[in-house]
Amino acid sequence: MNILVIGGAGYIGSHVARELLDRGHQVTVFDNLSSGLRENLFSGAAFVHGDTLRYEQLISAMRDSGAGAAVYLAAFKAVGESMIKPEKYSVNNIIGAMHLLNAASETGLKYIIFSSSAAVYGEPEYLPVDEKHPTNPSNYYGFTKLEIEKFLSWYDRLKGIRYASLRYFNAAGYDVKGRVTGLEQNPSNLIPVIMEAACGMRGELQVFGNDYDTPDGTCVRDYIHVNDLAAAHALALDYVSGNDKSITVNLGSEEGVSVTEVLETARRVTGKAIPAKITGRRAGDPAKLTASAAMAGELLGWKARYSDMETLIRTSWDVYRDK
Ligand code: WQD
Repeated sequence: MNILVIGGAGYIGSHVARELLDRGHQVTVFDNLSSGLRENLFSGAAFVHGDTLRYEQLISAMRDSGAGAAVYLAAFKAVGESMIKPEKYSVNNIIGAMHLLNAASETGLKYIIFSSSAAVYGEPEYLPVDEKHPTNPSNYYGFTKLEIEKFLSWYDRLKGIRYASLRYFNAAGYDVKGRVTGLEQNPSNLIPVIMEAACGMRGELQVFGNDYDTPDGTCVRDYIHVNDLAAAHALALDYVSGNDKSITVNLGSEEGVSVTEVLETARRVTGKAIPAKITGRRAGDPAKLTASAAMAGELLGWKARYSDMETLIRTSWDVYRDK
């Protein structure tokens, strides 16, 4: 299929583009390069330097590429920033998604794979979190994702656009074959921050609290390898197009790992001391968050293959150590 990968020069987008190319799809990457990198583009994919906020650019890219499906990974994703600058998230995430839906409706593009987030759930009421868990985002970023899911659902009903909404837990790692090498700029997520501390790009890791009700006092999360995420996008597209049916599924490893365990694995794999300091809790952090990915298994036949902490760290370090 011809697929438009919007945000395909970004961290997750580039892995998705690679996966779709590997499976024999024709890929056009559409990216404004605000955080995406030319380094993340592949010679087998076409590239359009365009912005989702420029409706005419999106329409042209859909028409010129003949895309039958779009993957939408062009949202801003810094949770903390979304609480300080909601306007930025409203415009880019929500209006960008509206343009995508309207352009899909206008051009007859039938399938959309949407990067959603565990952030739609908010503070967990029970674990592991399945798709029936109430949605109650505790940050503006998560709110934008949930609103876009609602728009998708309406366009499914009114316009027959079928979608998969993929609720990622903590995405991490790099391509296991080493084909993606672009570093995220100013990362705030745990594993890239640890990598930066390991290679001297930053002084230390700040551990946000060690007084949580968890076995070692630090927060527990469900880390999912970006190659596993990418495979799920391809499988979700097969499902949605094959069954003419929309779905909303969690993508997680179902393994809970604490901040201390991540740090210890990183010290062992990198052989670096990685300075770390315990600081106060970060506002809005739940003590534990883990996924049930049973639905992705049942519907897509998907299973995490690379999401053990060792592989997550090793594939990240393979990229960071060379920088
Ligand atoms: C992980 C753990 C921190 C940085 C976010 C979004 C979520 C989803 C995944 C996409 C936490 C601790 C972190 C640091 C630390 N995103 N930490 N020092 O907040 O679990 O999830 O990314 O949709 O919606 O909320 O990820 O990587 O920021 O934090 O101690 O410098 O590491 O407190 O326990 P988070 P994270």
